[in-house]
Amino acid sequence: MIITEIEQAIENLTALDILQYVDTHYGDRAVFSTSFGIEDQVITHLLGEIGSRAHLFTLETGRLFPETYYVWNRTLERYNLPIKAYYPNTEAVEKMVTTKGPSSFYESVENRKECCFIRKIEPLQRAVRGYEIWITGIRAAQSANREDMNMVEWDEGNKIIKIHPLFHWSQSDVEDFLQTNNVPYNPLHDRGFPSIGCQPCTRAIQPDEDFRAGRWWWEDKSKKECGLHIVQK
Ligand code: ADX
Ligand code: SF4
Repeated sequence: MIITEIEQAIENLTALDILQYVDTHYGDRAVFSTSFGIEDQVITHLLGEIGSRAHLFTLETGRLFPETYYVWNRTLERYNLPIKAYYPNTEAVEKMVTTKGPSSFYESVENRKECCFIRKIEPLQRAVRGYEIWITGIRAAQSANREDMNMVEWDEGNKIIKIHPLFHWSQSDVEDFLQTNNVPYNPLHDRGFPSIGCQPCTRAIQPDEDFRAGRWWWEDKSKKECGLHIVQK
């Protein structure tokens, strides 16, 4: 099985060497999703360093923080890497907002999932279609759910192999890397936002709270995933 083969080939490699492996074997058949979070910034830096042929994209939900647009611009200035923006389907957003208003996600988990589907999941499906490898910035330590993931996974829904090169990195590994390499990052990270998504659905956390406690904070802990990384096996 190809997943086991890749797993064995990369298990003891550094993140840089993993990305090099992906470049050697998959070239421009690999795609990287960036939300401009600190993990994603490390990966963008490494892709730039090796001159990777992987394509980069971001899901522009229409509800991002101004600080995210700021770091998006700084990333374009610093790295000569095109980042394709994927927007939600216009008609689907128009229908949802017209019938339910602009903040329906606070009213029920069902409404929140509908919004995440329209603004993230459906555009993601378009963004990864036709590629063989999908690189993400996921780390195991980000949540209990993510501890159960693997560094290499088969996503049956999107028919693609996912690779998380920073899977075993700690928060301080990421922060040290940013500092050492002077990588641009989202200023919200210094204001108590370790995990950053859409503006209405993300808030700062207290030092003793979970990494993802500020995401969809009004919902039950078990539901704190938008569905981008619920892998159907
Ligand atoms: S989420 O599932 O809660 O939204 P999270 O913010 O932890 O995901 O980010 C994990 C990884 O998902 C990122 O490293 C990135 O690869 C991808 N990702 C999340 N949000 C986006 C986005 N808006 N655009 C592109 N990729 C994203
Ligand atoms: Fe909608 Fe919030 Fe999901 Fe963003 S995180 S897509 S605003 S429900």
